[in-house]
Amino acid sequence: MPPILSVQDVSYVFVDTHPVRALDGITLEARSGEFIALVGPSGCGKSTLLRLLAGLLRPTEGRILFDGRVLRGPRPDIGLVFQEVNLLPWRTVEANVRLPLEILGTPRAEADARVREMLDLVGLRGFENAYPRQLSGGMQQRAALARALVKLPRLLLLDEPFGALDALTRERMNLELLRIWAHHRQTTVMVTHSIQEAVFVADRVWVMTPRPGRIAGSVSIADLPRPRTLEMMAWPEFGRLTQAVRSLIQEAE
Ligand SMILES: Nc1ncnc2c1ncn2[C@@H]1O[C@H](COP(=O)(O)OP(=O)(O)OP(=O)(O)O)[C@@H](O)[C@H]1O
Ligand SMILES: [Mg+2]
Repeated sequence: MPPILSVQDVSYVFVDTHPVRALDGITLEARSGEFIALVGPSGCGKSTLLRLLAGLLRPTEGRILFDGRVLRGPRPDIGLVFQEVNLLPWRTVEANVRLPLEILGTPRAEADARVREMLDLVGLRGFENAYPRQLSGGMQQRAALARALVKLPRLLLLDEPFGALDALTRERMNLELLRIWAHHRQTTVMVTHSIQEAVFVADRVWVMTPRPGRIAGSVSIADLPRPRTLEMMAWPEFGRLTQAVRSLIQEAE
């Protein structure tokens, strides 16, 4: 089966006061249903790559194929959760999650059902009428996740979705995310700073190196069975895999 996502020799240059080559010759692929984690130091271009995959930026060089066709802009079947929570403060949780369906013109009854399903899925039942400021950070991120999932995207892009949360909440959110993924099986690319988190969630970890951002290599996590449990973090195999990712990062330095 051809990959659902294929990034072919992609470079990206920001042109501001002077040009900044943020990404250089990025080549990678994702199979349908695969869960990819993307790790790398701050400033290496992870968010830039995610924006390219979302169709929000166009490659300066190279091309990105989604489902066999060149990606030319944002699409309803690609969902993105940004690094910073960006819910609309004047809309309730329910209305925030509904927004993408309003834009798509989804019929009311279908939209109602989907919004309910997604709020259930992320555990926000009972908070439909709350405003973002009335929610904790973790709940806001779950609302942002529900908003990205409500379009039933075939590709879900997550930019450090739980980066601002405490370690315990973060572990719980990762388990919830894996449960949702097991249910919908959308191809997922999740950016994270944490090597442990990357190994815990992913089928494959891509490692990026900075200035300009390049792919140093990838590590397959296929040997770690699913469903993943927190106990696995104490397994020797888990330690071996995090060490393999760490070595890739260090070799590139
Ligand atoms: N709008 C912009 N204009 C100019 N340069 C930019 C812009 N956005 C990002 N950059 C530069 O591109 C590079 C990659 O930035 P990016 O935000 O993709 O990194 P990142 O890996 O997501 O970092 P972090 O882990 O801190 O979120 C950095 O050197 C940054 O300074
Ligand atoms: Mg970033």
